[in-house]
Amino acid sequence: MNYTISDLPDYFKQYKKSIKNPKKFWDKIADENFIWYQRWTKVVDFDMEEANIKWFKNAKLNITKNCLDRHLAERAEKTAIIWEPNNPDENARHISYRELYEETNKMANVLAELGVSKGDRVCIYLPMIPELAISMLACAKMGAVHSVIFAGFSATAVESRVNDCGAKIIITSDGSFRGNKSVDLKGIIDEAVEKCPTVKNVLVVKRTGSEVVMKPERDLWLSDLTEKASANFITKIMDAEDPLFILYTSGSTGKPKGMLHTCAGYMVYTAYTFKNVFNYKENDIYWCTADIGWITGHSYILYGPLLNGATTVIFEGIPTYPEPDRFWEVIEKHKVTQFYTAPTAIRSLAKESHEWVEKHDLSSLRVIGSVGEPINDEAWHWYNDNVGHKKCPIVDTWWQTETGGIMISPIPFVTPTKPTYATLPLPGIQPVLMDENRIEIMGNQVDGNLCIRFPWPGIARTIWGDHQRYKETYFTTFPGKYFTGDGALRDEVGYYRITGRVDDIIIVSGHNLGTAPIEDSINLHPAVAESAIVGYPHDIKGNALYGFVILKETGEERNKENLRKEINQLITETIGPIAKLDKIQFVSGLPKTRSGKIMRRILRKIAEGDFSNFGDTSTLLNPEIVDEIKDERL
Ligand code: WT7
Repeated sequence: MNYTISDLPDYFKQYKKSIKNPKKFWDKIADENFIWYQRWTKVVDFDMEEANIKWFKNAKLNITKNCLDRHLAERAEKTAIIWEPNNPDENARHISYRELYEETNKMANVLAELGVSKGDRVCIYLPMIPELAISMLACAKMGAVHSVIFAGFSATAVESRVNDCGAKIIITSDGSFRGNKSVDLKGIIDEAVEKCPTVKNVLVVKRTGSEVVMKPERDLWLSDLTEKASANFITKIMDAEDPLFILYTSGSTGKPKGMLHTCAGYMVYTAYTFKNVFNYKENDIYWCTADIGWITGHSYILYGPLLNGATTVIFEGIPTYPEPDRFWEVIEKHKVTQFYTAPTAIRSLAKESHEWVEKHDLSSLRVIGSVGEPINDEAWHWYNDNVGHKKCPIVDTWWQTETGGIMISPIPFVTPTKPTYATLPLPGIQPVLMDENRIEIMGNQVDGNLCIRFPWPGIARTIWGDHQRYKETYFTTFPGKYFTGDGALRDEVGYYRITGRVDDIIIVSGHNLGTAPIEDSINLHPAVAESAIVGYPHDIKGNALYGFVILKETGEERNKENLRKEINQLITETIGPIAKLDKIQFVSGLPKTRSGKIMRRILRKIAEGDFSNFGDTSTLLNPEIVDEIKDERL
């Protein structure tokens, strides 16, 4: 691929060009590096006020032609995917580009036989096994829209996502292995599908061999069908702006948002950013530890690497199984050159004895990366010293489900790194900091709300079925700009440091959680009158959840410990175990403004144990409640 950045002056040169003339910049990258059935008539067309964005207008393509077919001439036998199973005693699988191409075709034929056609939605609820990648590619190849649902979500969470996108088919497995546990994924799907009228078939991959109930007509074993399927499939020709996938992310209010990414822009942006941010070279072995159920996995386990003809590792297990050196063992075993993980994983592994990391040869590594939340100073240094041995640049990559790909990050061997800083925007990305009065904050050594001025090819185009919400969430707070929901500061040389969310989203162990859906599920408990959730700092998870709960007045004495368990059980059932509360404090009221809005700022301070300054409380309807909550803090 013909789009590298060679040194810092070259970065500045390319950056300037990309800002001065974004159309020319992206036109050249798209033109020189991909296979198109038909070129675009216009590079970009946009209206930021109306949130209408189109890239590579009228171009025709298929992303899988670029991920698979194009590599068959030169790299057919090259390993596309190294699959590392949960249990290290089970053999790893090396899947070549040819095999991946054939498996994708078989799967596409299976879906076509079941009546899936262009534009239909297919939900995928699978563990980290090759079939997950193959299912996504098969959808892309035939023009179906995949929506991967993270296989840690509960039946209720699955149900709402499947119904929101109206999926025809769900692809799942008999179960999943996670450390020494196995999870009954099929059981969860059975429960969910009862309330999903659009689902015609459930395709089941055999993974754990555990017994499952197969509902006649509806449920089918995937292997029965792929065995008979042809390894040839005619690729669907897609328009640049046809949907590629929907991926749900938490909103600060209401139901999850189905972010829609489209074919051409997403392809160009993930390929370009993968190559540059990871300093990718032909014989590298690249490993991103995220789950494919999140955007990180979509863009940087699957699409970005395959577009570049890379070898990408898919790891089924967890960092601590069978021992807390599994990551380091896998790096040594497969001679991984780029390693991309999350701060929460780094912090938890840094807590383990040093011998675990020291006993492994990590000398194959060249670049190490971080994503998902701000990386704190201590974790940054531990990672730099013990994993990168001070030789591997750390790419602290800031981006979002909505951005499709990495936005702010050092370019390894080009941008000097600085602990806790995501550093500089990639070419084509124009960050701006805005103050409360919607005025742009100029100059350096300032902080504010992080917005982006000009569209880039990877930006999500809408929220599935709700363009109004898309527009309101991202384009109205600061009119004419994309608002990220994050706060950031810009230092004296123009480096960015992301300070965290400024909205009601809390990032727990790298997972985005909205306060409202959690509060809604707590409020389902018959004893609960009202609740409010805030995040507070946690050594490993980054943030943990603290709930303030008002109980209904019944006159009865309730066992508080049991109530706490029941509330967390409800959250597990409706959202998933990741959203469980670490602390639940029962209170008689919540601090509210006269307009009835809960003052979370105060609750956040109490949860953090910082009683020094609650700021202006004069607008509170019930200021006396603050002392009560403070005195009974857990
Ligand atoms: C939010 C997006 C992007 C893939 C994973 C998360 C936070 C992400 C960083 C970073 C500081 C970060 C932001 C962002 N975030 N990367 N390097 N430094 N914060 O995707 O679930 O859509 O979450 O994650 O708050 O808005 P997501």
